[in-house]
Amino acid sequence: MARPRFGLIGTGFIGRTHAIALNAVGAVFAEREAPVCDLLADSSPAAASQAARALGFARSTGDWRDVMADPAIDVVDICTPNFLHREMALAAIAAGKHVYCEKPLALTADEARGIADAADAAGVTHMMGFNYICNPLLQAAREMIAAGELGEIYAFRGSYLEDYMSDPAAPWTWRCKRELAGSGALADLGSHLINLAHLLLGGIARVQGDLQVVHATRRDPVSGERRAVENEDIARALVEFGSGVPGTFEISRVATGYKCGLTFTVFGTKGTVEFDQERMNELRWYDAAGPAARSGFRTILAGPDHPDYRPFCPAPGHGLGYNDLKVIEVRNLLRAIAGEAPAWPDFHEGARVQRVMEAIEHSAATRSWTEVPA
Ligand SMILES: NC(=O)c1ccc[n+]([C@@H]2O[C@H](COP(=O)([O-])OP(=O)(O)OC[C@H]3O[C@@H](n4cnc5c(N)ncnc54)[C@H](O)[C@@H]3O)[C@@H](O)[C@H]2O)c1
Repeated sequence: MARPRFGLIGTGFIGRTHAIALNAVGAVFAEREAPVCDLLADSSPAAASQAARALGFARSTGDWRDVMADPAIDVVDICTPNFLHREMALAAIAAGKHVYCEKPLALTADEARGIADAADAAGVTHMMGFNYICNPLLQAAREMIAAGELGEIYAFRGSYLEDYMSDPAAPWTWRCKRELAGSGALADLGSHLINLAHLLLGGIARVQGDLQVVHATRRDPVSGERRAVENEDIARALVEFGSGVPGTFEISRVATGYKCGLTFTVFGTKGTVEFDQERMNELRWYDAAGPAARSGFRTILAGPDHPDYRPFCPAPGHGLGYNDLKVIEVRNLLRAIAGEAPAWPDFHEGARVQRVMEAIEHSAATRSWTEVPA
């Protein structure tokens, strides 16, 4: 398949990001031919047609099932609200198409595992939209940890803090309803943090979670009535990785002042690395070697010596942006489809993330440590 033909569903926040990446990937990564932005679906023909013109797609439809039924489409790209992921992914798999799906993969861990197994059984390539881990500096941090540059790792601290729902007057959306979103901050933000933790330190064995709803009702923008918020605004957890390393997670969609506070610190006997997505072109590194009088954190700026930076820009310190992470993710997907590299994070990783989320919820409900199923 020289130029995979994409059918993209959903043109909201992340659908646009995917479309931008599909258009850019061939220009950025000269190794590849650009994919074909073929069919765009949204919930109405008018919305889809307008978006297709703006986003460089050849055709549009108001019915996502057209994407599945169309033999010209090789890859289905799912960018719709959470509750639609499962039905759309299973339909794409049944049609023998490769599937690229936004997080969370499904509403429950069982559903997520079922989708991953179905994709394997059909022999299609599957990939999750966990774009933050495509940051060249996160790849560098992973290399430093794996190479032992931080010594023995003994603790992880991670957070994902945003304030998109911190205003009590912010309207009720599908993200507040369990049957549409699944969990709250955990599914929306925590899924990224868990995937990032997996990348750096491997699987999580057990958790002790705590959930908090700060704003119990919100105003429905259509009816004007107050509606219940059915999932958590904040999740906290003590975690223990399979390696025995302990850690902490803090995840919030009501963290006033934080816009994209996806952070981590990895502590080792020889050094520490830390990162904050709001300063996504900087990795802070403390090296415990050397004279105490010269000790301190140094800031590593992203540059062409880090994986995947150079195709965007030959100069260090000029920086990448959020959308560039999606371009790297799409390149990874195209490589996987071409059989050049394994797909990761695949749907099994999506399901593994979902099991950690569910364990945190279970632990919060039972006020006890909870094992994460293998
Ligand atoms: N990876 C990331 O960084 C990131 C960022 C934002 C959102 N997301 C994920 O992306 C998904 C979508 O979130 P969003 O913020 O883009 O939402 P959104 O509400 O901005 O957009 C959703 C889109 O789906 C369309 N849609 C809804 N029902 C549909 C249907 N039946 N058929 C076709 N189209 C339909 C809507 O019209 C809209 O265009 C969520 O699962 C979310 O978790 C991921």
